[in-house]
Amino acid sequence: MPNSLTEVQVLSGKRITLGVTGSIAAYKAVALASSLVQAGAIVDVAMTESATRFVQPLSFQAITHRPVFVDLWAAGMETDIAHVTLGRESALIVLAPATANMLAKLAHGMADDPVSITVLAARCPVIVAPAMDAGMFTHPATAANVELLRKRGVIVVDPEEGHLASGLTGLGRLADPDRIVDCIRATLGAHGDLAGRHVLVTAGGTQEALDPVRYITNHSSGKMGYALAEAARDRGAHVTLVTTPTALRTPGGVSVIAVRTASDMLAAITATYAKLDALIMTAAVADFRVESEAAHKIKRGETSMDLRLVPNPDLLAATAALDSRTRPVRVGFAAETQDLLAHAVDKLQRKSLDLIVANDVSGDVFGSDSNEVTLLWSDGREAALPRMPKTVVAERVLDAVSELLRRR
Ligand code: CTP
Repeated sequence: MPNSLTEVQVLSGKRITLGVTGSIAAYKAVALASSLVQAGAIVDVAMTESATRFVQPLSFQAITHRPVFVDLWAAGMETDIAHVTLGRESALIVLAPATANMLAKLAHGMADDPVSITVLAARCPVIVAPAMDAGMFTHPATAANVELLRKRGVIVVDPEEGHLASGLTGLGRLADPDRIVDCIRATLGAHGDLAGRHVLVTAGGTQEALDPVRYITNHSSGKMGYALAEAARDRGAHVTLVTTPTALRTPGGVSVIAVRTASDMLAAITATYAKLDALIMTAAVADFRVESEAAHKIKRGETSMDLRLVPNPDLLAATAALDSRTRPVRVGFAAETQDLLAHAVDKLQRKSLDLIVANDVSGDVFGSDSNEVTLLWSDGREAALPRMPKTVVAERVLDAVSELLRRR
């Protein structure tokens, strides 16, 4: 079970081959290798000769603690045929950066360097992240090769628009390594225990406007909700993340709906509720909003000011009213500063939940990467978990969701 802050369940112990080809973006592959290793993957790197002109194999060896496959004819290769072994033992192969030349080779089944030969020998999922000048990427020859590879099942992480090594701006920059990691995680988890399930996660603290420049909110960072959305994606779920503005990176492979207020959030949930297999409400929803938002910025005054607040709907209670025979598994969070379990049990019943995640927020939980929670089920079961990274709390919550879905 992953326990460090950076370890990721779907990557933990997985063999991944990273193929690096000769683009200036090859230096970014070092960061990618590092992320994968920190997430718990066992990473083998294969490089073309041109890639070694940009980055030393030693950089990858130092990060992965494994030999780098750079020479088809190196001594030792005759007993342990590197490309066949890598191709057979890898759970996934990712080429980042993939040059136009490499895409052309793969499209035509060529195998004359450590990267292309490993891909040809492999039977696992292959991801390519192209990087090249915009003119080369949009050239009909490259476009046709990419299309052919897609048709054959190769997954393409499209390059991004931006500054290119040529000094020009255009489509051809290597996708951000975090986006590539998202794609690797989603691909490895595609057949997980939530495959075919639609999970909606709400995250962040709602913002209730006072006037065009000010709002009332709370300390929620959104980390728990984002961790749940990513973990559900990694287990094969189709994930909708309904989120208020946060400082967090938008995860790839997840449908994101941006909202601000409690009523926006309710509208977003209601629109998909009937199709959901699970609703996980981590959002810290404001219980009150200002009765009437000022149309213009409220000006400084010398006297005190009264704000009249009116109650917001309880989103969980409101959606429970939509329940039919096909109701989703409903999970709530209870952040309390006193009488934790008693308040949580009350919310479990009042909001028609299958599971509630109770946590004591009197300490430093807001914005923290770890949390200590107790899971309480509607059938009376209870599990107090030790303090652990929020990413691991997410996995334990999804274990419970998965079990509840299986029992239906
Ligand atoms: N919640 C909700 N709608 C609200 C407030 C909260 O759906 N208006 C959800 C939260 O997303 C969470 C659960 O209900 O999953 C518990 O949230 P909490 O704020 O602890 O509950 P409240 O009902 O607001 O109770 P109180 O503020 O009195 O503790």
